[in-house]
Amino acid sequence: MIDTTAAVLTAVNEQLELTTIRVDDPEPHEVRVAVTNVGLCHSDLHYMTGTVPTDLPVVVGHEVAGVVESVGSEVTGLRRGDRVVGALTPSCGRCINCEAGRSTQCRRLAEIRRRPRPAFQTTSGRSIERLGAIGAFSRHILMREDALVKLPDDVPLHVGCLLACCVITGVGAVFRGAQVRPGSTVAVIGCGGVGSAIIQGARLAGASVIVAIDLDDARLKAARGYGATHVINGGDCDPVAELHRRLGDGVDYSFEAVGSARTAATALALVRPTGTACLVGIAPGGTELSVPASNFFFEEKRLIGSYMGSGQARQDIGQLARLYQQGRLLLDEMVTRVIPFAEINEGFEAMKSGDVTRIVVDLQS
Ligand SMILES: NC(=O)c1ccc[n+]([C@@H]2O[C@H](COP(=O)([O-])OP(=O)(O)OC[C@H]3O[C@@H](n4cnc5c(N)ncnc54)[C@H](O)[C@@H]3O)[C@@H](O)[C@H]2O)c1
Ligand SMILES: [Zn+2]
Ligand SMILES: [Zn+2]
Repeated sequence: MIDTTAAVLTAVNEQLELTTIRVDDPEPHEVRVAVTNVGLCHSDLHYMTGTVPTDLPVVVGHEVAGVVESVGSEVTGLRRGDRVVGALTPSCGRCINCEAGRSTQCRRLAEIRRRPRPAFQTTSGRSIERLGAIGAFSRHILMREDALVKLPDDVPLHVGCLLACCVITGVGAVFRGAQVRPGSTVAVIGCGGVGSAIIQGARLAGASVIVAIDLDDARLKAARGYGATHVINGGDCDPVAELHRRLGDGVDYSFEAVGSARTAATALALVRPTGTACLVGIAPGGTELSVPASNFFFEEKRLIGSYMGSGQARQDIGQLARLYQQGRLLLDEMVTRVIPFAEINEGFEAMKSGDVTRIVVDLQS
């Protein structure tokens, strides 16, 4: 067991508190990672504000990169000093979904994540929850070997961390989720970290039109840099009417990267008959959707969802790293600011403002 510093959430809507916690020793299949960088994802905010329920106290944070510090007795593929990215979706490799290549829906996830003792404890011995069995806002974390992917030497850790969540989620939603075809037309609602990655995925897939929709002009300006061909500020107009006015028809694919019933319904309204709307944003717990049934039986629209890139995290993260090395996936541009660990609460405040794509925390500073 070691002591380390973590940003702990003890009550919903309170600030994270930097404090000393105890980190257990790695189990046979686990690795202890010295965390270097974590991206601030809107999903962390959902837990912090209670829109997604969690037990407390909890350490959130999951868009993580770091360096292997020690390994459990049965770990064979990683060793001390390896630079790694964490994946939120470890998988057994053997259940019906894993065998079908859908490891984000591994049926044995709960079993895989179970461990005999709490991974994190307060110094007085109280158990601390971890978001996604990661809890990345801690200078040291424990992850299973099969949830970690080695990062090539020339991919810096402060950009590599984005591969762990927003990039694999966004690009995966395009390729594995909606399966966007070259030449097709795409609209993306919400241009934060996830939406920016969807826009890049659509560009990589060869979409001929990419319409970015957001409420913030600075985010829309950045969206053009990631590949958007058109931008619509949904605060100034009805984005569905505006898209029809500009393109004459709905798009082949739309993506929702905000997380609300309203924007989900907009995503369905944006696609033309036979088009596919893909929900990626996480709506508050209990949200229900109300959409016109005729969109399905008369217009043959499709409404799908995509979670964490809908696929094989280990394979996909390696491929995305190669696209970055070739300059085809823009990651440096997505990191608006790297902030010290002590400023994490200010980082979450800044995330709500317009001129950021991703804020990344440096946990070693
Ligand atoms: N499905 C998954 O696997 C997965 C993975 C990661 C994140 N998420 C979810 O995706 C969503 C986006 O995450 P993020 O980290 O990119 O968030 P973010 O805060 O970085 O970006 C959200 C963007 O949406 C814009 N926005 C807000 N309301 C809008 C509206 N009504 N119309 C248009 N734009 C609007 C904001 O201006 C902002 O640019 C969150 O709900 C997050 O929890 C899902
Ligand atoms: Zn995330
Ligand atoms: Zn499985």
